[in-house]
Amino acid sequence: MTRLAVITGTTHGIGRVTSRELARAGMTVVMLCRNMEAAREVRRDIQTAVPSAPVHVVHCDLASLTSVRTAASEVSRRFGPIALLVNNAGIVSTRRRFSTDGFELTFATNQLGPFLLTGLLRDRMAPGSRIVNVASRIHARGRLDLAGVTDVAAPYRSFRAYARSKLANVMWSFALARRLAGDGVTVNCLHPGVVASNLLPRWLQVVKPLVTPVTFDNERGARTTLHLALSDSVEGVTGLYFDEHGIAQPASATANDVALQERLWEQCARWTGGAPSTVTDPVASVATA
Ligand SMILES: NC(=O)c1ccc[n+]([C@@H]2O[C@H](COP(=O)([O-])OP(=O)(O)OC[C@H]3O[C@@H](n4cnc5c(N)ncnc54)[C@H](OP(=O)(O)O)[C@@H]3O)[C@@H](O)[C@H]2O)c1
Repeated sequence: MTRLAVITGTTHGIGRVTSRELARAGMTVVMLCRNMEAAREVRRDIQTAVPSAPVHVVHCDLASLTSVRTAASEVSRRFGPIALLVNNAGIVSTRRRFSTDGFELTFATNQLGPFLLTGLLRDRMAPGSRIVNVASRIHARGRLDLAGVTDVAAPYRSFRAYARSKLANVMWSFALARRLAGDGVTVNCLHPGVVASNLLPRWLQVVKPLVTPVTFDNERGARTTLHLALSDSVEGVTGLYFDEHGIAQPASATANDVALQERLWEQCARWTGGAPSTVTDPVASVATA
């Protein structure tokens, strides 16, 4: 039986390359996407590159908690134990928008959806399995302004919203790593580099040929994710933040604040309706006491 990888956001960019390479590495790949037509096309491309690769598509809109719950139960019902979960999907909403659940859209998509999904799949993770969260170096510019996530009147800057969501990714990854340490499930997060994907702001897309020398293409952008997903050298390594060269680096001081990580965890658990990942963290209990 092949090892099972679950990955979000594979219709474009880094996720598309990552899923193809996971299939090439012999894994069964389950792609969680909101655009089923595009996802099926990606599946065809992967199967052209890697004939007979077992690739599956499950509908999942990370900006909808109901959709995430439905996707998690479909994954649990259809597939066996998970060896790898890659939370890759992400957006930068250029204007202030809210999810159907009432959360600022970038935070809903980049943090709350993955938090709930991971919590719901937690019991499906095999011993020795890995969770890889695609964060960003921009986390270091973020402020954990949680009030702004639900405040429809709060001033909106797309960069700030994105940086807040990526800071949350790093903090959540560290808090999750502590909780899963005893279960042999590792959790790491990363910056993929500045990648010329659809995520770049429109003005940068227009001048893409000019910025190409200083940006990575999607193939290169997938490298650190693949390293954390597949390399023997990171077996058992957990709770770290890696740069675009696959090297562990210190995350920002805010990201390392354990009390703040716990506040974030509590709030995400409340907002998502209490994912079953709200296991008590003994280290954090001491740190926050
Ligand atoms: N590009 C960079 O320079 C850079 C730098 C640092 C970190 N990152 C991180 O890298 C990750 C991948 O980004 P990328 O550069 O590859 O961007 P991308 O090309 O825009 O791809 C993003 C993927 O996420 C999916 N997605 C967006 N919203 C979703 C939702 N609500 N539900 C399910 N899937 C959704 C998209 O699917 P659709 O086809 O449905 O839109 C797409 O497949 C993100 O987490 C991003 O924050 C990127």
